[in-house]
Amino acid sequence: MPTLGLGVYLNDECAEACRVALLNGYRMIDSARFYQNEEQVGVGVRQSGVDRAGIFITSKVFHSEFGYDKTTAAVKDSIKNLGYAYYDLYLTHSPLGGKDLRLAAYKALLDAKAAGLIRSVGVSNYGVKHMEEIRAAGLEMPVVNQVELHPLCQQKPIVEYCKKNNIVVQAYTPLLRGAMDNPVLQEISQKYNKDAAQILIRWSLQNDFVPLPKSSQASRIISNGQVYDFEIAAADMAKLDALDRGKSGAVTWNPVDTD
Ligand SMILES: NC(=O)c1ccc[n+]([C@@H]2O[C@H](COP(=O)([O-])OP(=O)(O)OC[C@H]3O[C@@H](n4cnc5c(N)ncnc54)[C@H](OP(=O)(O)O)[C@@H]3O)[C@@H](O)[C@H]2O)c1
Repeated sequence: MPTLGLGVYLNDECAEACRVALLNGYRMIDSARFYQNEEQVGVGVRQSGVDRAGIFITSKVFHSEFGYDKTTAAVKDSIKNLGYAYYDLYLTHSPLGGKDLRLAAYKALLDAKAAGLIRSVGVSNYGVKHMEEIRAAGLEMPVVNQVELHPLCQQKPIVEYCKKNNIVVQAYTPLLRGAMDNPVLQEISQKYNKDAAQILIRWSLQNDFVPLPKSSQASRIISNGQVYDFEIAAADMAKLDALDRGKSGAVTWNPVDTD
C-alpha cells in the first residue's frame, strides 16, 4: 500500500483531482459508495494514463448496504462503476447497523476477495470491540482500519490495538477538514517553512499512519504530496502529540463507539 492517498469525499466531480494526483506521484485513491464518485475515480485513472496495476484504489460499503447479499451486490456495482476488474482494498465504512449485519457484510467482503473482486479487506471507524468481534467470529482479521486521526484526535486505544495486530491505520480527515488555525500547529509550520497541511501529513507519516488528505484544488493536491523532503524533530512531534483531546477532538462522525 502506498504511504499516502488522495481523499475524494465531497468531491463528486473528482476525476480531475485524481488525474492531477496521479500525475504528481500519488498512487492511492480513497473512495466510497457513499461519496457517489466511484465512476469519476475510474475516469480520472484512465485520463491520467497511469497503469491501473500501479494504483491502489479503495472503496467502502455504507451500512445501508450491509448484509451478505446486499454487500456482495454493492461490491459488484462498485466494480462496474470504476470500470476496472478489481479494487485493491474494500472497507466496511463504519460499524453502524449492528453486529449481525456488519459481520455479514464483512463476510461478504472476504468472499469477494476469494472471488478476486477485491485484493484486501478492511474496516473503517471500528473500535477495539468491533475488531475483537471479527476475531471472535473466527474470521480473517482486517488488514486496515481507517479512522479519523490527527493531533487533536489520536485514537490511542485503537491505534495501539492495530499496531499489536499488524493492522494498518489509515488516517482520515488528516487536515482537520481545513481548520488548521491551531497556534501550536501554526508555530511549527512557520518554523519548518511548510504549510500547516504538510506538517499534519508529515505528523501522520512519522507515526506510521497512512494519511488520506483531500483537496479538489490542483496546487494543494500537489503540495500535500510534497512531504518527503523534511522531518519533524522529536521535540516538535511531542508538541503536536500533546494536542490530543481524545474523542472531543474529532471533527467528523467518528462512530467508533457504536453498539
Ligand atoms: N471512513 C470515513 O468515515 C471517512 C470520513 C471522512 C473522510 N474520509 C476520507 O478521508 C479523506 C480526507 O478527509 P476529509 O475530506 O474529511 O478532510 P481533510 O482531508 O482533513 O480536509 C479537507 C479540507 O481541507 C482543505 N484543504 C486541503 N488541502 C489544503 C491545504 N493544503 N491548505 C488548506 N486547506 C486544504 C480542502 O479544501 P479544498 O478541497 O478546497 O482544497 C477541504 O476543505 C476523505 O476525502 C475521505 O476519502 C473517510
